[in-house]
Amino acid sequence: MLEVEEVCAGYGRSQVLFDVSVHAERGAVTCVMGRNGVGKTTLLNTVAGLLPAMSGRIALDGGDVTRSRPHRRVRAGIGYAPQGHGTFAPLSVAENIAVAREAAGRAGPEAVEEALELFPRLRPLLDRRAGLLSGGQAQQLAITRALVTDPKVLVLDEPTEGIQPSIVAEIEGVIRKVADRGVAVLLVEQYMDVALRLADEVAVIDAGRVVHAGPRASLEDGEARRLIAI
Ligand SMILES: Nc1ncnc2c1ncn2[C@@H]1O[C@H](COP(=O)(O)OP(=O)(O)OP(=O)(O)O)[C@@H](O)[C@H]1O
Ligand SMILES: [Mg+2]
Repeated sequence: MLEVEEVCAGYGRSQVLFDVSVHAERGAVTCVMGRNGVGKTTLLNTVAGLLPAMSGRIALDGGDVTRSRPHRRVRAGIGYAPQGHGTFAPLSVAENIAVAREAAGRAGPEAVEEALELFPRLRPLLDRRAGLLSGGQAQQLAITRALVTDPKVLVLDEPTEGIQPSIVAEIEGVIRKVADRGVAVLLVEQYMDVALRLADEVAVIDAGRVVHAGPRASLEDGEARRLIAI
C-alpha cells in the first residue's frame, strides 16, 4: 500500500536519511524502531510531505506522491498523527476532528462516528478545548483526527510515548482493529513490548539507515535488540 523506496532526506545540507526503504502493507502493522535521533520522525515527515525527499520515491496504492503537497497526500489516503500529537490547542475536540475531516475531503460524517466508537472516552470531551486535554486524551484525539480522513495508510509517531499503561492498551487495541479493517499502519514505536504485541513487520533504523527489516519474530534476534536498546 505504501512504498518508500531508497529515500534520502534531511535539513538543509545535513542529510538524516540515507536510502531508506520501508513498505507498509494493507491489514498489517509495520513498526519502525530505533534509538532517539536516528531519523524516525524525519522519515514519517517525509512520508507525510512535510519534508521533501532529496531523492527516492514514495508511492501510495501504486500512485507516486513523492512530490505531492501534504494536503494532497491526506486526500490520497495518508493519515498522520505526529509525535507529541500536534492537535490545535485553541480549538475544541470536535473542531479538531472537523478540520481534519474537511481537509481530507474524502470521508463522510459517518467517519467521525466510527472513530468515536473506537475512542469512546473522547465523546464527553467534544466541547473541551484540545489544549486542556491530558496527554493520553490528546494522543487519542490525534489518532482520531488521522482516522477521520479515512486513511489507506495510518502513520503514527510514538503514540504511546509518556502515556499510562491502561491508555496504551486502549491505543494498541485501536491500532490492531484499524489494521484488521484493512488499513496499512506505519507505526514508530520505541518500546519493545508494544512492538512485540503489535507489529507484523519491523524495520530498525540506525543513523538514518534501515539496518534490520523482517517479521516481528526477527526482533528476537540479538543483533536487532542491540540496535534498539536504549
Ligand atoms: N527541523 C530540523 N532541523 C535540523 N535538524 C533536525 C530537525 N529535526 C530533526 N533534526 C535532526 O535530525 C536527526 C533525526 O531526528 P528525528 O527527529 O528524525 O529523530 P527520531 O528518530 O524521531 O528521534 P526521537 O526518538 O527522539 O523522536 C536528529 O539529529 C535531529 O537533531
Ligand atoms: Mg521522533
